[in-house]
Amino acid sequence: MIIQKSTNPRISTFDPQNFSFGTTFIDHMIICEYENGKWGEIQLIPYGPIGFTPAMMGVNYGQACFEGMKAYKDADGQVFLFRPEKNFERINKSAKRLAIPEISEEMFMGGLKALVDIDREWIPQGEGMSLYIRPVLFATEEALKARIASKFMFAIVATPANSYYTAPVSVKISDHYSRAANGGVGATKAAGNYGASFYPTQMAMEEGYDQIIWTDDCSHEYFEESGTMNVFVRINDTIYTPKTSDKILDGVTRDSFLKIARRKGIDVVVGNVKVSDVIDAQRNGTLKEVWGVGTAVVTSIFAGLGYQGEHLELPQLSDEESFAVQLKNDLLNIQTNRAEDPFGWRVLVEENIYSA
Ligand code: COI
Repeated sequence: MIIQKSTNPRISTFDPQNFSFGTTFIDHMIICEYENGKWGEIQLIPYGPIGFTPAMMGVNYGQACFEGMKAYKDADGQVFLFRPEKNFERINKSAKRLAIPEISEEMFMGGLKALVDIDREWIPQGEGMSLYIRPVLFATEEALKARIASKFMFAIVATPANSYYTAPVSVKISDHYSRAANGGVGATKAAGNYGASFYPTQMAMEEGYDQIIWTDDCSHEYFEESGTMNVFVRINDTIYTPKTSDKILDGVTRDSFLKIARRKGIDVVVGNVKVSDVIDAQRNGTLKEVWGVGTAVVTSIFAGLGYQGEHLELPQLSDEESFAVQLKNDLLNIQTNRAEDPFGWRVLVEENIYSA
């Protein structure tokens, strides 16, 4: 690994009580370039802009994908990654589908650990605090031929994430726009999946909703995802979530919720979640909760659903009654080393790896 430490670190200006998630970046980043059929040496360098032209293929043709993951600091200052091997597997799954050369475990894990280690001071400590890490892979070749690029970059940047209370949101069940199609790229973290969701989301916001529950592109009869998250529904005391497919992202938080729920003895059904069943359950009072899960927000609890012009209220449960809150707390306790880790999910980031 080539290491170039920042000569102008900004850490002394970082206020963990007052910063903005997603726009504050740690002092360093990882980059690695692919050229002549192979990945070069991984570099740990100061965070900052890198020059490209508007003819860069990643921008023109969207050959780009990313990951979202977090590092947590426990009460003793130890730093942990959460299930990073899942993100490594998934970035290569996305890469394969987008015809981007796959990356090695050493590039991903080695780069990740070195970056988190060198900038560990940037990880805020305390309730709901973490470092949000964004590995990204994109085509850098300067060419306008519509074909697979021959030059790529793998990079990792990171932004501190704070604990923010997310007020229960109101979501619109889509009966027109779709996020993914059979045979498409919905199961990957293709950058374009997110770009294509912004306009329908803006339309829903103009109608007073915060997010969209994406439904299948053929019939709009089945739940798929919610906003940038996987979706869960609780009817009576059973929780339901759509089965992953080539349209649905295999979310790390989704999988963790399922495993924790099963261990707690909660009834879990992974399969089709039919819009009409959810609406019927709301009408007959058996619909208890609907929520989204993802790395960034962990859990977003829904207060209401909009469907074909009708607004359906959801019950407001106490924290003790809510499965969503219980599962979120159990997960956060594992992530931040406040509870046992029965699944072996935490990965300690040892000190001074970057200088090794
Ligand atoms: C995540 O929760 O990791 C996401 O994918 C959301 C991200 C686009 C901010």
